[in-house]
Amino acid sequence: MSIRFEAKTSTFTLHTQHSTYQMQLDPMGHLLHLYYGRSVGDASNFDLYPAADHGFSPDYHELENVRGSYSPDVLPQEYPGANRGDFRVPAADVADAQGARGLELIYQSHSVHAGAYTLEGLPASHGDDCETLAIQMRDPVLGLGVQLLYGVYEQQDMITRAVLFTNEGSQPLTLEKAASACLDLPFGSWDLIQFHGRHAMERQMERTRLDHDTRRVGSVRGASSHHHNPFVILCEPAATEDYGSCYGVMPVYSGNHCTDVEVDFNGSTRLVTGIHPDGFRWLLNPGETFTTPQVLLCYTHEGLSDLSHHYHRFIRQSLCRGTANQTSQVLINNWEATYFHFDQDKIYDIAQKAASLGVGMMVLDDGWFGKRDTDTSGLGDWFVNTQKLQGGLAPLIQKINDLGMKFGIWIEPEMVSEDSDLYRAHPDWALTLPGRKPVLGRSQLVLDMSRPDVVDYLTDCFTKLLSENHIEYIKWDMNRNMTDVYSHALPPERQGEVFHRYIMGVYTLLDRLTTRFPHVLFEGCAGGGGRFDAGMLAYLPQIWCSDNTDAIERLSIQYGTSFGYPVSAVGAHVSACPNHQTGRTVPLGTRGVVAMSGTFGYELDLNKLSRKELSLVKRQIARYQSYAELIRTGDYYRLTNPAGADFWHGWQFAAPDGSEALMNVVVVHPQGNPRPLHIEWKGLDPNSLYKVVRAELQGVHPGLPAHDWAKAIAGQKFTGAQLMYAGQTLPQLYGDYPSVQILIRKTR
Ligand code: DGJ
Repeated sequence: MSIRFEAKTSTFTLHTQHSTYQMQLDPMGHLLHLYYGRSVGDASNFDLYPAADHGFSPDYHELENVRGSYSPDVLPQEYPGANRGDFRVPAADVADAQGARGLELIYQSHSVHAGAYTLEGLPASHGDDCETLAIQMRDPVLGLGVQLLYGVYEQQDMITRAVLFTNEGSQPLTLEKAASACLDLPFGSWDLIQFHGRHAMERQMERTRLDHDTRRVGSVRGASSHHHNPFVILCEPAATEDYGSCYGVMPVYSGNHCTDVEVDFNGSTRLVTGIHPDGFRWLLNPGETFTTPQVLLCYTHEGLSDLSHHYHRFIRQSLCRGTANQTSQVLINNWEATYFHFDQDKIYDIAQKAASLGVGMMVLDDGWFGKRDTDTSGLGDWFVNTQKLQGGLAPLIQKINDLGMKFGIWIEPEMVSEDSDLYRAHPDWALTLPGRKPVLGRSQLVLDMSRPDVVDYLTDCFTKLLSENHIEYIKWDMNRNMTDVYSHALPPERQGEVFHRYIMGVYTLLDRLTTRFPHVLFEGCAGGGGRFDAGMLAYLPQIWCSDNTDAIERLSIQYGTSFGYPVSAVGAHVSACPNHQTGRTVPLGTRGVVAMSGTFGYELDLNKLSRKELSLVKRQIARYQSYAELIRTGDYYRLTNPAGADFWHGWQFAAPDGSEALMNVVVVHPQGNPRPLHIEWKGLDPNSLYKVVRAELQGVHPGLPAHDWAKAIAGQKFTGAQLMYAGQTLPQLYGDYPSVQILIRKTR
């Protein structure tokens, strides 16, 4: 039993393999948070919070006589409401029909059941290896029922949370804020790790010390955004990749999100995470229920790598649905090869060359539909552009299938161009403010996905596309953020619901299509990685990581992404050089090494490559396919921070049973007379013997000693202890951004 309730002390204790989470009811029925951290057993930890007078901290009316010794302002709270004596960031803020704001939750009952809970209309983790605790709370004055849900994945060290608000009274209520979880950490000082960025430079890791203020990581763009990924980490200041207390907080949500972290006057840290309160206002009529998104919490005392491994496994096993991306298939996408300028012959030429090298799927990107020769028109008109594809899609797909390749296609369901038949027919289907010209983004408008009729229309449209054509992959793009947020279908008092209803509409469409077409591999995308989050990953097992395909820039993007998200989810392609985003030239071999730490594909015109390059591509594909299982399911280790001072960047995969491992090193700042490049392996069995299966150099100038080293080291044996503790020193990798991959395997 991972969930225990001790009636004598009214204490709930949630156990995972390595962590304990504890709450306790106070005599008035408030739910206090007592502890979350390394396993400590079942005993109540209430004694951690001695009675103390905090001066201006308010008292419950019932406790007027014991002034100052028991205040909601200083005790750790499980789900605090606003305006009732706790001045820290609230988890929820509710107003009644008179506009009186105040929420105070009192315990009613609880229940425990086997298995994971589901959330209506929202993505949530699944699986039988979970136990669910539902604690029923109530504000008797508002007549508001609040159910706190906890999913405990004991073996995976993961605790999920979500909240259900039900109006059990007779007057309408308004939710001004409804977070998914609050986490009070009353002791200790913490670093905040967050992943900020911008288009083509997503998820840059930033670590800062928390101080006496409130830090906010959030998005009000209608998407989880390029700018602030919803995943954050709190860790002790001494924490490293291999050591230290770390808490991960991962909202399963793709819309406006917000995580506030406050350090209060007492030195206590509070984290509140969920839907962004700005632009949010939900009318809850009698009998209605509002469900918050889920959040995934994980604690480890073993450092950042261990935290990442937990999230990687959990997302693969218990969040993503289906098995559609569990192959070593390599795809080619025509976007950077042709942009909008292609016809069926051009696409076939690319496919033909790719097939001859071992590529398994041709993906036709933007421009195949409507009047779409630039990005200024055509979105919404999901019928084939027969000027480019004269016979339609079917004959092209057939020819590609005849090459032994699968066929995939790009769509951008949520958008509409002003210059499109769809917009001309349904101008009210776009988000626009009455009486104003809408603000544009990439010359397009956002469809109002809060409208069921729009979602139904899109369902029919893409069901038709997928039923009538042999399509085995969909790239689901979304290329602008939301402005002019107003739904022409909702009354004034519900306009604060549009952002959230929008993303619920997206989830409905995703749910319908992925359920109807389970064999189709769906890849998410939002101008690259502008919606790279656990909400999308519940439906789409992979997401295009960034529009920046420069292999050296990708190192820091993929590094940041790896803290929360598994490599199997990271869309990564080899593209042409000079690179289209940076103008930089990186050797083809090194481009391959970097893209292999993702879903691996190509995005260039292979017909423009030399014979030597084509033969390298062929070997690259074969190599990726032999490593694919290890890359996709192995434990991922970050060896350096690409933004740090090292002249090289390294990362590694190790099979969970320690049987094999793959080292990757890229020289990012080629230096004259560099210091020795010394690596220490991770995740091996110290007592086992490992053989170097192969060491492959990429981009190292010919005739240099490194090549002799690579030949000589193959077949050599080392103990796991040697490789991990003494490490290995590599020869100088001389060249423009050279790299090396070393595969080792357990031997006798
Ligand atoms: C943005 C995506 O990130 C690109 O890969 C490409 O699909 C373009 N959109 C097409 O418009």
